[in-house]
Amino acid sequence: MGKIGAWLIGARGSLASTAVIGARAIAHDLAGSNGLVTALPEIAALPLVGMDDIVFGGWDVVSDPILHKARVLAHDDTAIPPGLVAALEDDLLAVDMRVRPGVLDHAPRSGSSALRAARGRRETLAGTLKRLGEDLEQFRADHALETVVVVNVASTEPPLELGAEHDRLDGLDRLIHADRRAAFRPSMLYAYAALAHGFPYVNFTPSIGVEPPALQQLGRKQGVPFYGCDGKTGETLVKTVLAPLFRCRNLEVLSWDGFNILGGGDGEVLSHSRHRESKLRSKSNVLAPTLGYRPQGKVSIDYVPALGNWKTAWDHILFRGFLGTKMTAQFIWQGCDSILAAPLVLDLIRLAEYAHRRGESGQMTQLACFFKKPMGVEVHSFMAQFETLLEYVERHRATFGVRRG
Ligand SMILES: NC(=O)c1ccc[n+]([C@@H]2O[C@H](COP(=O)([O-])OP(=O)(O)OC[C@H]3O[C@@H](n4cnc5c(N)ncnc54)[C@H](O)[C@@H]3O)[C@@H](O)[C@H]2O)c1
Repeated sequence: MGKIGAWLIGARGSLASTAVIGARAIAHDLAGSNGLVTALPEIAALPLVGMDDIVFGGWDVVSDPILHKARVLAHDDTAIPPGLVAALEDDLLAVDMRVRPGVLDHAPRSGSSALRAARGRRETLAGTLKRLGEDLEQFRADHALETVVVVNVASTEPPLELGAEHDRLDGLDRLIHADRRAAFRPSMLYAYAALAHGFPYVNFTPSIGVEPPALQQLGRKQGVPFYGCDGKTGETLVKTVLAPLFRCRNLEVLSWDGFNILGGGDGEVLSHSRHRESKLRSKSNVLAPTLGYRPQGKVSIDYVPALGNWKTAWDHILFRGFLGTKMTAQFIWQGCDSILAAPLVLDLIRLAEYAHRRGESGQMTQLACFFKKPMGVEVHSFMAQFETLLEYVERHRATFGVRRG
């Protein structure tokens, strides 16, 4: 197998930079595989692409280089070892050379460093799609790549209410030809470009991405796998592990409140109510499917700039047991945002490439355990979702005779 491409949307952000640093560190034997699901012996049974065979590129709308972001993550946020950034300078500069201007959105950003590489572009929707498609094809040709996996790790967009035109590909194409910008978010345009050119697409953010049925129709028509949305890395991950406990012990959850504080670029964007709405939608719907009812309570997210790349979640759960006695469970989760998420992005690149290589297309439901809002899957128990991934690996091992891990 030759090299494959990983094209990150939001390539200069914290998560993308950490994913690149992680992949290059592993490729140079400077880091181990903690946090990588695909390094588990059960999953490593699949013949997945090696870290040294992944070439990175991507789109962004700011010009601050990845190396700058990496230094901030190392020195200001103590998220990654500074020595690693120093050792990988050349690698990071090389990836930065492959970052192309993205699609201008209206994400709120402050600070003089937020120069928009895409500012001032006056393009039609059709023109944008053509440009994005050319970027992907150029990337593939320049590096003789077998395929390119496109992963959305850009800032969270506000929600978009879908209309009847988003249901079918011909309807969506009419919107494009009529240049109806209000009917699109950038994440949809990136997804369209990827799928139209036959490249797998994964949405790690709560943004709309490939959710419109018309885009899924495009993916199936092109025989391409896709999936999303919103990576499950912290509070929601713990919730989807704990909720089955209450269900299986017949303990009635009366209320479940989650209080989240975080810093970084993600926190800054989520401090704006319309953008926060997208995140709250994907975080808020994981309990009812497991418990069978919706307990009281809500999820809140607050921006604390001084936290940098770190986040804290405090969850308070009030539940009723035998004889009606009320009891409480609480947990505090303190994590480094990008360190939790980056290995999952690498896992998804490897598993999406594998699915594509096997000729699979449509929703990659075997990847549900990676997402807060997994497409086409109603089961929210983390372990049940993980079992689905193991069954997928086992099925492939049996069908394709791949080695046991
Ligand atoms: N634990 C995690 O880190 C985690 C978990 C789940 C989901 N996510 C999601 O991943 C995304 C990235 O998180 P982050 O911490 O790296 O944020 P970040 O602010 O550090 O990075 C986002 C990057 O996206 C770029 N961007 C913004 N609009 C864009 C556009 N229209 N096109 C291309 N690029 C654009 C920004 O310039 C920035 O470089 C967020 O949507 C976040 O909600 C992160």
